[in-house]
Amino acid sequence: MTLLFKVDAERGQLWKALFAEHAPDIPVKLWPDIGDPADVRYLATWAPPENLAQTFPNLEVVFATSAGVDQFDLSQLPPKVRVVRMLDPGIAEGIIQYACFAVLAQHRQIPVYLTQQAERRWQAQPYRAAGQRRVGVMGLGNLGTPVAERLRGFGFALNGWSRSPRQIDGVACFAGPGQLPEFLAQTDILLCLLPLTDDTRGILDHQAFATLPRGASLINLGRGGHLVEADLLAALDSGHLEHAVLDVLNEEPAPAEHPLWNHPKVWLTPHVGAVTRPETAFDVLLANLRRLQASQPMEGEVRRQEGY
Ligand code: GLV
Repeated sequence: MTLLFKVDAERGQLWKALFAEHAPDIPVKLWPDIGDPADVRYLATWAPPENLAQTFPNLEVVFATSAGVDQFDLSQLPPKVRVVRMLDPGIAEGIIQYACFAVLAQHRQIPVYLTQQAERRWQAQPYRAAGQRRVGVMGLGNLGTPVAERLRGFGFALNGWSRSPRQIDGVACFAGPGQLPEFLAQTDILLCLLPLTDDTRGILDHQAFATLPRGASLINLGRGGHLVEADLLAALDSGHLEHAVLDVLNEEPAPAEHPLWNHPKVWLTPHVGAVTRPETAFDVLLANLRRLQASQPMEGEVRRQEGY
């Protein structure tokens, strides 16, 4: 019952050392040294290899080493293969930090002040209290919920939107496509933490931007596929949207000629909102393997029909 890691070499060594020390009963292999493919029961990876099912006939579980599983073509996996997303508290912490940084930067108008600095202009902009700033979090799962809770501490007026109804203290929660316009219309800073599914692909489009109040800004910490980049450019250039902070793009790495690289109203980071660190993710993965061995439900198992 080999556990095969297909990850970068440095993290692979870390994973292997952690298993050797804390769970020596679970044999670990590091891609491309796969041993006998028939022994591989579990695969931990961000980028699954081609022909997964044919290569590993006894594969039981794919453990994503990422919070999102959109990079897996679930339709290509035999139904018996279970898929589990990574609920690493280290990922949540990274996302919370990035989200707070980006929301506070928008709230305190740092993009405007940086432009002023480049122009040697010393000028205070009108100040708005946090309670007058409406922050809308899209996606209220294991990332969106702790983000909303942390933002609550700053006193923002918080809205949340998710597929199914949620209740979070201090957050006005909206659910489903029917309530999306109402949610957007009351959001000054929109923060996307949705999973990428057929329902959410392209959700950040011209219609969404037109529904946001004038002067709103966008932070995308979800996936590039959520955003229609041409619609964002149009909304920024028309002045309807004020600014965007993007950690993810449709094409990563972004090609040199991509218009977002040097757009004056965009901050771009190379998909670094959170990284999975074996040091924090190990306990989560091992706990799931132990649950599996005890025939208990695993945490973060993907409902394959829903895609997350
Ligand atoms: C990173 O984007 C992840 O899904 O963990």
